[in-house]
Amino acid sequence: MEIPNLGFGTYQMDDRNECVRAIELAMETGYEHVDTAQMYDNEAFVAAGLDESGIDRDEVFVATKLDTDNLAYDDVKRTAKESAEKLGTDTIDLLYVHWPINTYDPVETLSALDELVEEGVIERVGLSNFRPDQLEDAIEHLDEPLYAHQVEMHPMLPQEELHELAVEHDHQLVAYCPIARGQVADVPEIQAVAEKHDATPAQVSLAWLMGKENVTAIPKAASPDHIRENFAARDLELDDADREKIDGIETRERIVDFDEAPWNNA
Ligand SMILES: NC(=O)c1ccc[n+]([C@@H]2O[C@H](COP(=O)([O-])OP(=O)(O)OC[C@H]3O[C@@H](n4cnc5c(N)ncnc54)[C@H](OP(=O)(O)O)[C@@H]3O)[C@@H](O)[C@H]2O)c1
Repeated sequence: MEIPNLGFGTYQMDDRNECVRAIELAMETGYEHVDTAQMYDNEAFVAAGLDESGIDRDEVFVATKLDTDNLAYDDVKRTAKESAEKLGTDTIDLLYVHWPINTYDPVETLSALDELVEEGVIERVGLSNFRPDQLEDAIEHLDEPLYAHQVEMHPMLPQEELHELAVEHDHQLVAYCPIARGQVADVPEIQAVAEKHDATPAQVSLAWLMGKENVTAIPKAASPDHIRENFAARDLELDDADREKIDGIETRERIVDFDEAPWNNA
């Protein structure tokens, strides 16, 4: 199964009941891709939600991420197996390096990921939050093809350079914070496009992302209305004029940011 271009984000869903209920509804609504991480402390809850939903596990693409403390060779190997167990699967569809910081080392971390693919513990390798130069370096170190790069991306952070690299190297660019945690609702250009299509600003942002080559969006929603609304963005078709308007947004906003982040240490 290839990665569906709309996924279900689960950051901050560390309450078991909330996570299980949200995953169940997401599966019922039609999502076929769930994004979690060791850092979110909810891999087992995601698995419980999938079980409760009754979905065939072959019909859902589940991605998780290695914690930044778990990037040394032995820790990658050991904790990937722990994640697989928590997720209730023999093979993780996609395992990302969450951040190229702390214990990240291109040789150690990436050779362990290559081996995990050979051993069948993971199906594909992903990276997250890499600068363009770090991404190119990682691609050179990996024997396996890079399948996905996950970064913050929305109309106020369009990530043109990383998108060009995704198309050039043919991997998915997976957009986190795809509705800028609700802030897209405050942007006049997005409001105008939403009004024109009788849609919501969140749907416009998601449709803008999903309409791009090799881009996948992973909105998080705990509220049932948001879960359904975001899924319905698949039916929204933006025309060239809408895209031009959104591409013309000049406001820039990066939500996930801290001193050690790769882009602050070039
Ligand atoms: N790789 C990384 O470093 C990284 C970093 C951040 C996020 N992520 C991943 O990306 C996923 C998405 O990012 P995110 O959760 O940070 O931000 P997001 O998806 O842009 O925003 C989520 C927030 O927006 C609200 N929301 C959802 N749908 C909405 C709608 N239709 N209208 C208005 N508000 C809506 C949610 O509320 P309710 O929950 O109350 O519905 C929640 O507060 C995460 O869950 C995680 O899986 C990865």
